Amino acid sequence: MSTLLPDDTGLIDSNGLPHVEYDPDWCRADLSRIPHIVAGPPGPESKRIHGEATGIYRGLSGQVRLFPVCWSGGKGVVLEDVDGNRSLDFSSGIYVTGLGHCHPKVSEAVAYWAKRLMNCHDFTTPVKAALVEKLAQVLPGDLQGMQLYDSGTVAVEAALRICRAATGRTEFLSCFMDFHGKTLGSASCARMNPMYASTRMPGFYMLPRPDTYRPLWTREDGSLDTEAYLAYYAQFIEEGSTGQVAAFVLEPIQGWAGTIMPPDDFFPKLRRFCDERGILLVADEVLTGMGRTGQWLCLQHWGVLPDVVTLGKGLGNGFPVTACVAREGIAGNFDRISASSSYGGNPMACAAALASIEVIEEEGLLENSRRLGEVALKRMREMKETHRIIGDVRAKGCLMGIELVKDRATKEPFEEAGKLVYVNAFRKGLAWIPAGHILRMSPPLVMNEDELMAGLNIIDEAIGEAARELGYA
Ligand SMILES: Cc1ncc(COP(=O)(O)O)c(C=O)c1O
Repeated sequence: MSTLLPDDTGLIDSNGLPHVEYDPDWCRADLSRIPHIVAGPPGPESKRIHGEATGIYRGLSGQVRLFPVCWSGGKGVVLEDVDGNRSLDFSSGIYVTGLGHCHPKVSEAVAYWAKRLMNCHDFTTPVKAALVEKLAQVLPGDLQGMQLYDSGTVAVEAALRICRAATGRTEFLSCFMDFHGKTLGSASCARMNPMYASTRMPGFYMLPRPDTYRPLWTREDGSLDTEAYLAYYAQFIEEGSTGQVAAFVLEPIQGWAGTIMPPDDFFPKLRRFCDERGILLVADEVLTGMGRTGQWLCLQHWGVLPDVVTLGKGLGNGFPVTACVAREGIAGNFDRISASSSYGGNPMACAAALASIEVIEEEGLLENSRRLGEVALKRMREMKETHRIIGDVRAKGCLMGIELVKDRATKEPFEEAGKLVYVNAFRKGLAWIPAGHILRMSPPLVMNEDELMAGLNIIDEAIGEAARELGYA
């Protein structure tokens, strides 16, 4: 028993998490009263507080610039702003709060450790030991060695460093339109965007990536030709690199680019391609991992095991905790890169991640995510029948997208429509993420079908309004 702290024997379990009883319907939205719009949004109070803060606080995201709402709280699938508007959450924060806002088990776990021990560098704690064991257990194959961090981009940096250490090579491949973070290495693997990177470090190369809706290379029958992409990669490595490629770094489904889906044969073939060349395969699953697509790792949909994987966002359901995980045989290299950090693996973070994994298991959220994806796809296909500005719809679990085009034959992106739909739906009480002409949805994994339908109905209505306003009805 601790002499420093009150005796909590019986109050916490053997993993170091407090026992929490909660109503399974704690997260539900009363759809007779949600969404509930009183002013704006953004309403006057949001504008006032936002105006005061932004006199000092700089570097806002495009989303906040476009829609400066000031949030005051969230519960389950509902968000509330300072004007009293209540919105349905279709973004999970930013692909983060998959278990809903303030899941009782996660919040209590964080609160318990916040009062007991907040930081002890990278010393071991009972809750860290329990977390890493649990994470290694749920992840596929021999993804058994890991280090914990506090942001996705830092986990990606660790992945890059470990690949260099493991291979002795220095170069990296990634794909057009990828996003991996905003620090120098991760940004060097991403498309250049004046908002977050204006330079690429030497030795980082980008390649075209197969997109099932916009294939670059097709077979005679018009279907996407994965082999042609791989042939291009082979030629590029031969002629464009210096022969020092350590790893291929990819998002299994591109999130920021607009839920861009690969063909089913891409990752299995890429796995073989990398193996034949001694190139490591790094899956950046910061966005797609931890149940977002209905599996712990998105790559499990295609039966592929990466050499290194990065996790974040949903890992701690809102608490900043991320991980870089490597397979046996590569994980030893963590010891060669001075892998630890000030905040990585702190007790609150470990508690949040461990509680989140337990909730995903206990509440069957992988299955729910997959089911919601199927239901959404059916509903979005119906929407495509009615709105000619919808070019494509897609979903893998709770990662969804609707691509808006001016013309289905030319597939010309319809940016103005994307912005209008986003704003119209937000004003109706749907909190979600803007993305140019591709509408991106990432509802919480805890949603039920009625809540999902309520959100999709708002989007349907907003697309109809935008099409009429722009003369495309
Ligand atoms: C695929 C991917 N990797 C890395 C990151 C960076 O994560 P963070 O914002 O936590 O640094 C993101 C963030 O959106 C992401 O989507």
